[in-house]
Amino acid sequence: MTGGATLRIGVLASGQGTNLQAIIDGCRRGEIPGEVVVVISNKHEAPALSRARRANIPAILVDHRQFAGLEAFEARLHEILTGYSVDLICLAGWMRILSPTFVGQFEGCMMNIHPSLLPLFGGRGMYGARVHEAALNAGMKVTGCTVHFVDETADGGPIILQATVPVEDGDTPASLAERVTKEEHRLYPRAIKLFSEGKVQFKKRSRELVSIEVSE
Ligand code: GRF
Repeated sequence: MTGGATLRIGVLASGQGTNLQAIIDGCRRGEIPGEVVVVISNKHEAPALSRARRANIPAILVDHRQFAGLEAFEARLHEILTGYSVDLICLAGWMRILSPTFVGQFEGCMMNIHPSLLPLFGGRGMYGARVHEAALNAGMKVTGCTVHFVDETADGGPIILQATVPVEDGDTPASLAERVTKEEHRLYPRAIKLFSEGKVQFKKRSRELVSIEVSE
């Protein structure tokens, strides 16, 4: 989708939903020419769902435990996302692996945010405090966050934007997480804006990320 129209965004979130909140706020402030039209969580207790409800956005629980398998679970996700005619799916703290088949159905219009400078400290099992622990253990002097297109690899799709933060003496995984999270909330809306303007595309055929222009 390019220029003019309003981007219809679906957000998949399993946890706190602070990135979801940043996206909702970005849309409402007019920084993102779009609207969050549906929020899906696989966790009934996820604060992300209450954030959506507070913002009058349809908040739908799709509990993976209530499905016979991944295929049936993803079929329900697919049904909801297509039912709301989403142009873009944003994974924001989504904690379920998605199959290559599902990802392939939305390739080029699904993004994720990760709390490190990918390809460092990404992949299966790398989430939450573990990511920041790994950055500290590696003796990194900077770390940050990455927004990338989702492909069939874990955290391996083309990078759209990154932001860095310093690692300071005495940092703990928690203090680092706090610094990185602040940047995430700035980065995700910027990446979505680029997408909405057609300035960033993931071309399926060539599997290349093309046309990045960052002008702010
Ligand atoms: C963020 O750190 C994000 O990078 C990662 O999961 C966390 C989600 O946080 N994928 P929140 O639910 O948006 O607060």
